[in-house]
Amino acid sequence: MENQKTQTIISELKEEAKQSLERPLVEYFKEESKRVETMSVSAPYIFADFSKNLLSWKTFQKLCQIPLTLQIEEKIKNMFSGDNINTTEVRPALHTLLRKIETPSSPSLVNKHALCMKTLQQMESITREISEGKRKSAFGERITDVVNIGIGGSHLGSKLILDALRKKTSLLNIHFLENADQNEIARVLHALEPRNTLFLIASKAFSTGETLLNAHEAKKWLSQSHPCPEDLNKSFIGITNNSSAANAFGISTENILPLWDWVGGRFSVWSAIGLPIALGQGMTTFYDFLAGAREMDDHFLNSAVNSNLPIILALLSFWNHNCLGAESYAVVPYCDNLRFFPSYLQQLEMESNGKSITLDGNEAPYNTAPITWGGVGTASQHAFFQLIHQGTRMIPVDFILPLQTGNFNQELEHYRVANCLAQSETLMLGNREKNTKPEKSLAGSRPSTTLMLENLSPRALGALLSLYEHKTETLGFLWNINSFDQWGVENGKNAATRIMQGLNSKNYSGHDQSTSSLMRKYVERIVKDEKE
Ligand code: F6P
Repeated sequence: MENQKTQTIISELKEEAKQSLERPLVEYFKEESKRVETMSVSAPYIFADFSKNLLSWKTFQKLCQIPLTLQIEEKIKNMFSGDNINTTEVRPALHTLLRKIETPSSPSLVNKHALCMKTLQQMESITREISEGKRKSAFGERITDVVNIGIGGSHLGSKLILDALRKKTSLLNIHFLENADQNEIARVLHALEPRNTLFLIASKAFSTGETLLNAHEAKKWLSQSHPCPEDLNKSFIGITNNSSAANAFGISTENILPLWDWVGGRFSVWSAIGLPIALGQGMTTFYDFLAGAREMDDHFLNSAVNSNLPIILALLSFWNHNCLGAESYAVVPYCDNLRFFPSYLQQLEMESNGKSITLDGNEAPYNTAPITWGGVGTASQHAFFQLIHQGTRMIPVDFILPLQTGNFNQELEHYRVANCLAQSETLMLGNREKNTKPEKSLAGSRPSTTLMLENLSPRALGALLSLYEHKTETLGFLWNINSFDQWGVENGKNAATRIMQGLNSKNYSGHDQSTSSLMRKYVERIVKDEKE
């Protein structure tokens, strides 16, 4: 039934979508004198102008009726209340509880919230002990460098935020080890001293192949210069929902910070997974980061649909992809500090909503998540904007434009802002002058949304990530899918285990002919190398 409701909405919008695709976008500005005013919205730390999207104000008003039809607001409240909306794992999705300060009114959340608060206190004391030099490495020396070993949601958020903040502090140097790659390990560890290095093993499951391989490599690296390898415990902190596996690896319980199954990995930067942010920039910064997200949560919970930025972004995405047929969208931050934002969003949006089965177990009769991709502006203008301006595909763009970046060179700042606005203007206007040669003509009417971020403060960054989390959740509700599981990655992991066994035993059977042949080619190559 729910699928049918969504399908009906898409069908009812088909005619309007057809008309929108035939009308020059700029026409809407002639007809709707207050278009910019009515198609802009202010949310905490973010001002969004979505007037350059390919739909009339009237159509936008129709989109704003959808949440009512699909009881979206009720689904949002159920999520905040801790209902088991992750239906296939029968779990809540309570990442919002991690950043809530006051005790929840609902009794069912009080204990979970107390765990969140306790963990914040643990993070606070670890950060203080290390920055004051009270907590030493296993070598009895001051910790100056921290290596976060984790992947996906146990890596991307902290890496993005630390890189965005960049504020040089006297605190620690934070490094990230993600892939199981000897070259990455060498790049990260080559300049570090074992005696001054602390490793965070960040893994909700504590069974992720890359993370465990890297954790064992880290242990080997430390052991080479530690007289009593069994005493390495003090050089590790585990952040996990699987403390027994962390104990088995050699991390004692007092050095483990908890995660819970009611927080999804790609939604976990607000938990102890965010410890690198506190260690690198201070706990006050981490609290501000949580506060910014909390302000966006309140905006999401309490704003009417047509002034609710997360819901508007979701409705525009629904319109662009389910009605206008766009297959992907680009997110382009015009600021180097947000260079890792596209990668962060790829996991958040594509691992959450890259699903083809709806909540009732049927095949989705409509498209779900589009492909999220992007890059930093202005460099992207010298890479893929040619295709977005003049290619055969319509690719909507989210421009993320921080207004204050801490950079006081006016010429550079004007250049950055001018280029961002120029791209969205050109996408809309194209260049249809009569005597334009075909190879130089731009169709125009290509949609974009410009999100002006007040600054790059921890609060603004928290609000930005919370905004896209809530956009993602709302789209999941619109598409009637489970945004909080990720069964699609399991088969690849299992296949890798089988292939590893085949490579080690030089037994290539049990695979398709192509894979067997490639396995053999690889092994023969390394054997040849070893003989040479
Ligand atoms: O990609 C699958 C996934 O489970 C992600 O959802 C998660 O963020 C990542 O792997 C790492 O998982 P863990 O934190 O359990 O090591």
